[in-house]
Amino acid sequence: MVESSNVPMFEIEDLHAVIEDKEILKGVNLTINQGEIHALMGPNGSGKSTLANILAGHPSYEVTEGSIRFWGEDILELSPDERARKGIFLAFQYPTVIPGVSMANFLRMAVTNTRNARAEEAAAKNGGGEAAKMTPREFRKLMREKMRLLKMDDSFASRYLNEGFSGGEKKRAEILQMALLEPTMAILDETDSGLDIDALRVVSEGVNNLAGPDLGLLLITHYQRLLNYIKPDYVHIMMDGRIVQEGGPELAVELEQKGYEKLRAEYGAAV
Ligand SMILES: Nc1ncnc2c1ncn2[C@@H]1O[C@H](COP(=O)(O)OP(=O)(O)O)[C@@H](O)[C@H]1O
Ligand SMILES: [Mg+2]
Repeated sequence: MVESSNVPMFEIEDLHAVIEDKEILKGVNLTINQGEIHALMGPNGSGKSTLANILAGHPSYEVTEGSIRFWGEDILELSPDERARKGIFLAFQYPTVIPGVSMANFLRMAVTNTRNARAEEAAAKNGGGEAAKMTPREFRKLMREKMRLLKMDDSFASRYLNEGFSGGEKKRAEILQMALLEPTMAILDETDSGLDIDALRVVSEGVNNLAGPDLGLLLITHYQRLLNYIKPDYVHIMMDGRIVQEGGPELAVELEQKGYEKLRAEYGAAV
């Protein structure tokens, strides 16, 4: 994507949000540029998943103040689908089980629709030529390639989406989606939770393979453990709906040593 270099890729400004009349986000500010890896940490209930869901366009939350801009464009009015097409991706903390829909079919729909829509937009921009569509055969080849990278057995493709998947398998399936959708802004919500060390290593390797100069990454995690495998450039700590501390990777280490207790006392968060 070629954009003006003065405009940040992803900018959250003074974001306030409520759910069922309860204010969860109380003024979040966060800027993420291409090529940067940001970690968002914080105790349970601090609003991390709420922020992730709002960024992806979840309809249950009401944004009452502030803005979210992607390449300078306010995306708050866009549907989750439109945001995804623009290149925003969310890996869920709790991926949904969809019985009756195989991984392969689900991914083929999501990926070919997204890619073809992007190809059409690009073709229209370049004077309305024919867009190169992805064929089912090309898709299968690409999927197998990415599955191998994530050390997923071929049989995965024919299983129903997340049905009976272990924690590690669900997270791998999320990263597989990300690998196929090729987002420019990826938000991973607790992708490390429920993983044993081997699965954590495979998932981290997968993410590190996708990281690069074009990708902005927001890693949401409760623990420092994941950050031993994926090195963040910036660390933000959220408490009671606000980012209360920011720094480099050393902040995550410090937090792991001190725990959230000290911060809690300092910021008086009701969590
Ligand atoms: N659907 C919901 N209905 C009511 N309250 C919710 C809902 N989702 C989240 N909350 C509340 O919002 C707060 C933040 O939750 P969450 O964003 O999941 O935090 P985190 O991901 O940091 O653990 C919690 O107090 C939680 O109970
Ligand atoms: Mg959460």
